[in-house]
Amino acid sequence: MDFLKEFEKRKKQVDKAILEFLKFDKKTPLTLKRSVPYPLKAGGKRIRPVTLISVYKLCGGKNKSWIIPSACAVEMIHTFSLVHDDLPAIDNDDLRRGLPTVHKKFDEATAILTGNALFIYGIEVFLKSKAPDKLKVKALDILLKSIGPAGVIGGEIYDIEGERKRPDPAYLRKIHLLKTAEFFKACFLIGGIFAKKFKKLKALEEMGLKMGLAFQIVDDILDETGDEKRVGKKLKKDVNKMTYVKVYGIEKAKDKALKLKEKAKEILIKNFRKNKERDFLEFLFDFIVERDH
Ligand code: IPE
Ligand code: IPE
Ligand code: MG
Ligand code: MG
Ligand code: MG
Repeated sequence: MDFLKEFEKRKKQVDKAILEFLKFDKKTPLTLKRSVPYPLKAGGKRIRPVTLISVYKLCGGKNKSWIIPSACAVEMIHTFSLVHDDLPAIDNDDLRRGLPTVHKKFDEATAILTGNALFIYGIEVFLKSKAPDKLKVKALDILLKSIGPAGVIGGEIYDIEGERKRPDPAYLRKIHLLKTAEFFKACFLIGGIFAKKFKKLKALEEMGLKMGLAFQIVDDILDETGDEKRVGKKLKKDVNKMTYVKVYGIEKAKDKALKLKEKAKEILIKNFRKNKERDFLEFLFDFIVERDH
């Protein structure tokens, strides 16, 4: 199988589904009708929803109407986190997914409210899943924890406070686990829960954390070595941040990402029989560490 082609195909399916869910109530202000789709339509790798669906399939899940809403929801919520991460009070970035950030294209107030709208809309979309309520509540609980005070939001606080701290490997790991890896973990677990593969949740959790950490390490490296056009963000912006590049240097950071990926693959191979979907997930793991954007 041509995995890259397959990835592109699945990404397009996610994009299409997101657009179908983006139906606004008549009462919605025109500003939000413009600003909410804007960062979603700008693109993005869609790595989280594609991974979530792949884990679901790996675990034997076959029901699109159960899983597609949660895949779209994680992308909307991820996009919310980017819109707020880019705000002047946080990272102050003016380029995202190759386009002006929401606060540049519109204004700051609109960007704050657009982030909120994406988050809330994401939860609404998540609930459109046709899975039994019991599974939905279990999965939603995990998703909310992963983006809350002990997840993305907490990680963003650590990230900001880290700017005033001396390089510290334990603190750095904490930032990256919370701001990125917890959310990846949730994507893996949601796939497993909707497929009712409860015995494998521990393995999925481990893989999610490792690949999430690897993902953020590579993001740190790309800030230093990437090509701005390809990455779609302004680069060399992490000068004041505590990053894997700052604490370990590029080579050691790369090595750490590779080792995390190898460990995640070992868990995958130990816990799941070889088939097309396991091969695809292995490809996604490779993509996460080898990517140039
Ligand atoms: C950027 O995420 C934020 C991080 C957690 C590093 P992505 O690199 O997945 O951004 P998009 O979705 O492809 O734009
Ligand atoms: C942000 O990390 C992770 C989020 C939770 C949004 P970064 O600040 O490094 O992400 P980029 O580099 O702006 O995409
Ligand atoms: Mg940031
Ligand atoms: Mg940022
Ligand atoms: Mg970054």
